Amino acid sequence: MEKLVQLTRDGDVGIITIHNPPVNALSPGVPEGILQCVEEVQADSSLRAAVLIGSGRTFIAGADIKEFGKITSGEKERKVGLNPTLAKMESAAKPVVAAIHGTALGGGLEFAMACHYRVAVAKAQVGQPEVKIGLIPGAGGTQRLPRLIGSQKAAEMCAFGDPISAAEAHALGLVDEIIDGDLQAGAVAFARKAAAGRRARDLSGKLGAVDRAAIEKKLAQKMRGRKAPIRALDAVEAASRLGFDEGLAEESRLFMECLFSSESKALIHAFFGEREVSKVPGVPPKSGFAVNKAAIIGAGTMGGGIAMTYLNAGIPVVLKETTQEALDKGLATIRKNYESTVAKGRLSNEDAERRLSLLTPTLTYDGFAEADIVVEAVFENMALKKQIFAEIDKVARPGAILASNTSTLDIDEIASATARPQDVIGHHFFSPANVMRLLEIVRGKASSAELISASLALGKKLGKVAVVVGNCRGFVGNRMFHPYRREAQFLVEEGAAIAEVDDVLYEFGMAMGPLSVGDLAGLDVGWRIRKEFKHLDKEGERKALIEDQLCEMGRYGQKTKAGWYRYDEKRNRIDDPEVTALARKLAAEAGIPQREISREEILDRCLLALANEGARILDEGIALRSVDIDVVYVNGYGFPAHWGGPMWYADFLGLDKVLARIRVFEARHGSLWEPAPLLVRLAGEGKKFSDFQGAAAHA
Ligand code: NAI
Repeated sequence: MEKLVQLTRDGDVGIITIHNPPVNALSPGVPEGILQCVEEVQADSSLRAAVLIGSGRTFIAGADIKEFGKITSGEKERKVGLNPTLAKMESAAKPVVAAIHGTALGGGLEFAMACHYRVAVAKAQVGQPEVKIGLIPGAGGTQRLPRLIGSQKAAEMCAFGDPISAAEAHALGLVDEIIDGDLQAGAVAFARKAAAGRRARDLSGKLGAVDRAAIEKKLAQKMRGRKAPIRALDAVEAASRLGFDEGLAEESRLFMECLFSSESKALIHAFFGEREVSKVPGVPPKSGFAVNKAAIIGAGTMGGGIAMTYLNAGIPVVLKETTQEALDKGLATIRKNYESTVAKGRLSNEDAERRLSLLTPTLTYDGFAEADIVVEAVFENMALKKQIFAEIDKVARPGAILASNTSTLDIDEIASATARPQDVIGHHFFSPANVMRLLEIVRGKASSAELISASLALGKKLGKVAVVVGNCRGFVGNRMFHPYRREAQFLVEEGAAIAEVDDVLYEFGMAMGPLSVGDLAGLDVGWRIRKEFKHLDKEGERKALIEDQLCEMGRYGQKTKAGWYRYDEKRNRIDDPEVTALARKLAAEAGIPQREISREEILDRCLLALANEGARILDEGIALRSVDIDVVYVNGYGFPAHWGGPMWYADFLGLDKVLARIRVFEARHGSLWEPAPLLVRLAGEGKKFSDFQGAAAHA
């Protein structure tokens, strides 16, 4: 086996190469290996300098995140391990040059900063992204970075966690030279020059103060409710106040505080969750199926967004509509979206044109026979979808993926319209499809394992987080969203203020309150679905009253400038006493007593409704594991990642406490709050949702 870190020579320069694929993470053995090589270079009189470089596609992309879990679980000693190693490297007499390609992130950048010089290829990126998993740099990043690039920029990089390009790093003085051509050769040449007069690192200088107010204002928008970014600011500020060693000690203290916080545990759960959902029992982990061409039916809201998703991934698309008018409208929207991205400076004009050139509009099935996937995104109507699938069956090539973007309909019934149900699957995108990261892959009874595997691989290629879910009404996300929004409406009927219900959930960290979401998506969507499924209503079951009335009044939400709220030209919400009066009137007619409702009750009613339905979904095998549900909610429904997801949040509260609270609601509100059997079982056994592997084991 190749050693994790190897020392080779290029004349009088030692080359220290890290071999820890795939991303040269700082797993146990890597820092020790680097230090040993640095010491060998120091001891070898034939060597004058060293280059530290990563093999494969990157420099050190970061810490080994699994190691953090070992510290919080008590499996590993509670200390930050890298500082002594970095101090020894930094004080070495012969210079060490970090040669960066790919990324130098987190511990990777901290290693690079403890080297005496840094050179990089132009395409490389560097950053301190620890806040994204609820941490701060813990190996001197908050102390060395301000000394290299100044306090303010360092504070920004540590608080927001966004990487910067090598070019920017060069301009800031973080990277000493950009290497064109071969990185190692360039780094060796640089090291020879450096050996002639090694720069002594000055860690004593006085640093400027951090302007916290400016950063905190931006944090309140971008990282709402997160503590780690504030701790990152504290740590960078310590560098201005304290000497280097005291600053390091303060950083370690703050790092440990973050490491043991619920925020970092939840964010690490969400981070690993995104990777875990791609592992589906019985489904090959790799797919040989390549999607090189796609055909999409319907150029409406979803079809247009899905087309852009494919174009953005470089996949040519044939887009079909029924009329020239609808086709033109769909194309105009796509073009407008690209133009606005170009105007914001996030895409070059050439790239936008290149993407658009991959799009072929059509009113016929011409070009469908060459497509590797056909995606249907027409109106939500079973008869229409079945007709379309019968047509697709005739034109699509054998083995092509036949996907429906339905959000509520039965995939098996849709598949039955074809002679190849094994090739039919749901690809449920979220609006706007070119922006939202979530993709629910809905497996039908007949969907083959290869088809699911190919869909997962495609999801990745499209830049989505794809979660495999079972076939039921609403699948995972929308099925759970129903009781969540139902409770929000019930609370208003019972006397809660509309804005307060939204604000409590917003302050918890949801991207938007549940009633505002209705206004954004359009209240008429649910209204139409309720009318269509009216025959399924259960006798005597309480139903939300207000939204149907709002729709009768033509208040569909933002698109009609009125729904739960009124909206001004800039789409700012304005409280509307008319809706409050309507709520009071409907409640009085239905005999719903009015009372003071606490913020705690608002939060629990909404969030525990999610968890209770999630428990049923798990028990039925509609979701494979609780983490799958969490990933759906964090990536598709604006659930705050720093609370992990609805199931993680329930685990955090403790399932015994969750059950007790749900029983209180059941006593007060009846059978809609009947606790899910799985919740009762797990709470009785003192377990968590994350312990439940039942459905995954049976799949
Ligand atoms: P839409 O009404 O914006 O677009 C539907 C398009 O399909 C229209 O442009 C229509 O002309 C076209 N169409 C109808 N019959 C056709 C045919 N035979 N051949 C070609 N085109 C045809 O609807 P939207 O919102 O895009 O919904 C499409 C599907 O996506 C539905 O199944 C819906 O449930 C689902 N969905 C919608 C979401 C949303 O937020 N709007 C989210 C996720 C899924």
